[in-house]
Amino acid sequence: MSATAAQLSHVYPLGTRVNEHGRLEVGGCDAVELAREFGTPAYIVAEDDLRARARSFVEAMASCHSNFDILFASKAFPCTAVYRVLADEGLSCDVASGGELALALKGGFEAGRIYLHGNAKSETELREALAAGVGHIVLDSFDELQRLQRIAAELDCRQEVLLRVTPDVSGDTHAAISTGQADSKFGFGIDDARRAIVAVGEQPNLELVGLHCHIGSQLFELAPFRHAVEAIASLGDFPVYNLGGGLAAAYTASQHPPAVADYVDAVVTVAHDLLGTQKRLLLEPGRALVANSTVTLYTVETVKRNISTWVAVDGGMSDNLRPMLYGSVYEALIADRPLAPATERCHVAGKHCESGDVIVRDIPLPAPVPGDVVVTPVTGAYGHALANNYNGVPRPPVIFCRAGDARLVMRRETYDDLAGRDTS
Ligand SMILES: Cc1ncc(COP(=O)(O)O)c(C=O)c1O
Repeated sequence: MSATAAQLSHVYPLGTRVNEHGRLEVGGCDAVELAREFGTPAYIVAEDDLRARARSFVEAMASCHSNFDILFASKAFPCTAVYRVLADEGLSCDVASGGELALALKGGFEAGRIYLHGNAKSETELREALAAGVGHIVLDSFDELQRLQRIAAELDCRQEVLLRVTPDVSGDTHAAISTGQADSKFGFGIDDARRAIVAVGEQPNLELVGLHCHIGSQLFELAPFRHAVEAIASLGDFPVYNLGGGLAAAYTASQHPPAVADYVDAVVTVAHDLLGTQKRLLLEPGRALVANSTVTLYTVETVKRNISTWVAVDGGMSDNLRPMLYGSVYEALIADRPLAPATERCHVAGKHCESGDVIVRDIPLPAPVPGDVVVTPVTGAYGHALANNYNGVPRPPVIFCRAGDARLVMRRETYDDLAGRDTS
C-alpha cells in the first residue's frame, strides 16, 4: 500500500506514517512490532514530537517577549523520562504534590526551576519543598500561607511565593477541569487575593513575587485569557505573572485548537496591554505539550456482535480514564491496516467490570478480529497520569520511539508490584 501521512488524521504524533508494509509507524517504529516486542496495552511516545512541542512554546514565546519561562505542568504525564526530555529542552516544571516533586527532581529538573502547586499541600509536602530548595511555592489558601510561614521561620529560610488567584472566569470546558470560576476549591478569589497580598507582605519569611492564574484545561477559545488577565491586573503591580496552561489538544480529526504560536501571541498581547512589557511571564502547559506525542496500543481479545459491535481490548479505564471521567472522545485505528475501508461501526470497550468502560464509541473500523492491534492516539496527557490498578490490572509500560529505535523507559507493572505494599 502506498499511503501518506496526509491520510492520517492530524492528531497522531509528528512523523507518524503508514510504512511500506502498510502498517502504522510511530517514531520510526512499526506499531505491530512494538506490540509484539513490548506487549499491550502500552504507551508509545514519539520523542521527537515531545521535543518539537516544547520547542514550539519556547520559540513562540521568544519571538514576542524576552523575560519568560515555559513550565511543564507535569501532572499531565509524570514519568521520569518525560521530565528528563523536557528539562533537556530547557523548560521549568510545575509539580502538584510531593510525589511529582520527587519525580521532577529525579527527572533532572533543578529545584530552583520547580514551582509547587496544590490546593491542599500538606505540612510534609511543604517541608519537602523547602528542603529541596524549590524556586517558588504557589500559595493557594490562608491556612497554607500561615503554615508555610511557620515552617520557613522554623527552618530560618525565606521562600519566594506566587499567589494563585481564581479570577472568576470560566473557560468553555468540562466542569471537572474548569478552575477559574469564583466557586472553586483552587486559589484566592479576587477579594480574598487582596487580603492575601497584604497578609503575605506581613510574613517575614515569605516573599511575594507575583500572581498565578489557571482558568481551566482543554480550552479552544482565547478570549477568556484576556478576562483572566484583566481580573488579576487589578490586584497591583508584580514582577512575575504565571498565566497557567489550558491550551486544548486535538483529540479527533474535527478538532482544531489554536496553534501554539497563536495562543502564545494572544496571551502575550494581553499581558503587554494590561501588565506592561517588562514583566516576567510564565506559561505552564501540560496537555498541549504531551497529549499528541503518545498513542496507546491494545490487542483485541474478543469481538461481540449484538445490537452493537463490541471490540473488547486488553486495557480500558485502568490506562485511560478520560472517557469515563469527562466523556472524552477518541479516535482509533487498526495498526496493520490503518487506511483500510472502515466497514463496521464499533465500540472499543475495555476489559474492566463496568459497562461504562468504553474507550471509543461508535467508531468505524475495518472488520476487527481478535489479535488485531488497536491504536488510540492522543493519550500522552492524563493517560499514564490517571492510570490505576482496577481489577488488578498492572499499569502499562512507557516506550519512547525515535528514528526507528524503541526504548523502554518505564516497564509494565507485575503481579508482584500489585502486592508490593503488603506488610505480611
Ligand atoms: C495550576 C495548573 N497549571 C497547569 C495545568 C495544566 O493544564 P493543561 O494540561 O490544560 O495545560 C493545570 C491543570 O489542571 C493546573 O491546574
